[in-house]
Amino acid sequence: MRILLLTGPGGDAQGWGDMHVTESVAEAASAVGHPARIAFAETEQDFLRAVDGGGFDIVWSALYYITANERFIGRGENAMWVADVLDARGIPYIGSDSRTMREMIDKYRTHEALAARGVAVPAHHLVRSSDDVSAVRYPAFVKPMGESRSIGINDDSVVTNADELMRQVRWIEREFGQAALVEDFLPGDEFTTLVLGNGATRECLPGLVSVAPQHYGKHKVLRADLRGIGLTKISLPPSRGDEAKVLAAQAADAMNCLDHVRIDIKTDAGGALRVMEVNGIPGLKPLKSWAPQIYTLYYRSPEGEMADYRNLIRAIIAAAGTRYGIA
Ligand SMILES: Nc1ncnc2c1ncn2[C@@H]1O[C@H](COP(=O)(O)OP(=O)(O)OP(=O)(O)O)[C@@H](O)[C@H]1O
Ligand SMILES: [Mg+2]
Repeated sequence: MRILLLTGPGGDAQGWGDMHVTESVAEAASAVGHPARIAFAETEQDFLRAVDGGGFDIVWSALYYITANERFIGRGENAMWVADVLDARGIPYIGSDSRTMREMIDKYRTHEALAARGVAVPAHHLVRSSDDVSAVRYPAFVKPMGESRSIGINDDSVVTNADELMRQVRWIEREFGQAALVEDFLPGDEFTTLVLGNGATRECLPGLVSVAPQHYGKHKVLRADLRGIGLTKISLPPSRGDEAKVLAAQAADAMNCLDHVRIDIKTDAGGALRVMEVNGIPGLKPLKSWAPQIYTLYYRSPEGEMADYRNLIRAIIAAAGTRYGIA
C-alpha cells in the first residue's frame, strides 16, 4: 500500500507530532512494506494539489483541518477539513470518518455523544464568559474545549468558586479563541487506552499514566509544563485495567472510532472511571508518545522498541487497509 502522509504547520498541535515524527512514521511504514511519501501542506492549495496528484493508495493525515496555526488546534470553523475533502473524492484514509473527527476534536461534543449512549463522562458544561454558571458544581476543572498536549491546563484549572472559574474561562477565550469546557474535577488515577484495529480484531490496551509526586503542584493533574519532557510514565495498570479497557471499548463504539485512537480516562471523587477525551490523531513520536509506549508494554519484541514502533505502524495501516480491502 502506498501511503501519502499529510501534515503541515498544525501537525504537532493537531496530530501525531512535528516533522521529525512524520519522518519516523514514513520510515516505519516504508520499512514494513508500505512506501510512504510526505506532503507538507501550508495552504489549502498545497493540500488539494497533494491529494489530487495521485501516486498513493491511502492518505494518513496528522491534520484534522488545514491551518497555518502552529501553536494550538483552534476551532477551524471555516477551514478545509481533511476527511471532508477525502470523502468527497472517494479517497481512502486511515482513521475515523469526518463526523467522528469533528466530534473528537471538540471535547464538549465528545462528552455529549458519549453521555447520550450511556458511556461514563464527567458532568460537563460549555462555558463562555457571558454565561450563567450557577449549575456548575465545585471543585470543577476548566480547560479549552478543543486542545491537546495539556495546552491551557495549569494548577488554576481546578476552581472552587464562580470567580475563579470565570477568570480561567476569560483567559481561555483570550489565549485560545474558544469556549471553555467545565467538568467535575476528577481527583483520582489516570489511564490512557490505546485502541487499535476494528471490529472483532480491535484491541483496547490500557496504560496507567503517572508522574513522580514531587512534580505535581497543588493537584494531581498533567499540567502543560509536565508534558513532552519525559516526566510522564506509562505502566501496566496494577489494578482496574480491565475496567479501563471496557470503558474505552464502549467509548470507541459509541463514537464509531476507526483504526487507531487513544482514550484518556480519570477516576472521579466516588472512585468511578470516566472518559476525559478521545484523541483522534494520537501522538506517534517513537519511544516517547503514549501509544508506542503502551504498544511496547503489551507487545515487546526481542528486536527492541523501534521494532515495536514499526509493528504499531504496521497494525494501524493494516486496520485501515483491511476496511477498504486494499492489500
Ligand atoms: N475533569 C478533570 N479533572 C481532573 N483532571 C483533569 C480533568 N480533565 C483533564 N484533566 C487533566 O488534564 C490533562 C489534560 O486533559 P485532556 O486529556 O482533556 O487534554 P489534552 O490536552 O487534550 O490531552 P492529550 O495531550 O492527551 O491530547 C489530563 O491528562 C488530566 O491530568
Ligand atoms: Mg489527554
